[in-house]
Amino acid sequence: MAKKILILNGPNLNLLGTREKQIYGEVSLSKINEDLKRLAQEKGVEIAFFQSNHEGEIVDKIGEASKEFSGILINPAAYTHTSIAIRDALLAVNLPCVEVHISNIYKREEFRHHSMTAPACAGQVTGFGKESYILGFLGLLNLINS
Ligand code: DQA
Repeated sequence: MAKKILILNGPNLNLLGTREKQIYGEVSLSKINEDLKRLAQEKGVEIAFFQSNHEGEIVDKIGEASKEFSGILINPAAYTHTSIAIRDALLAVNLPCVEVHISNIYKREEFRHHSMTAPACAGQVTGFGKESYILGFLGLLNLINS
């Protein structure tokens, strides 16, 4: 059976394309997801998408993920900087996880320099625009297959 990857996006990422374009660019989340879907097909893995503006829903999704998925690619968005609950969920689930950010969080306001969630992930990709998702996905696949 093909391995399945969960793509998780946190708050306000549903607004990509219209939200702070000077920072996040013009690309929509559905376009990013289409690109990931194509890449997953090429690589012979399955993929599923989940976006939520609610911390508890993200925690629930991570908690259930090991039943169905082999790894998680996550952009926790603002919860990156605040959520011990998402960090704990990622630690609890025991799946390889990679954190991605469109912008370079270390070049922005100081409150974005700290990630609560990155220490629960195998790695972090930040600052490559929509390509962060592609790079993170390839890194995650590499981990899953090694
Ligand atoms: C973000 C960076 C976060 O600091 C911010 O709150 C987001 C998006 C990014 O992808 O660059 O919502 O995760």
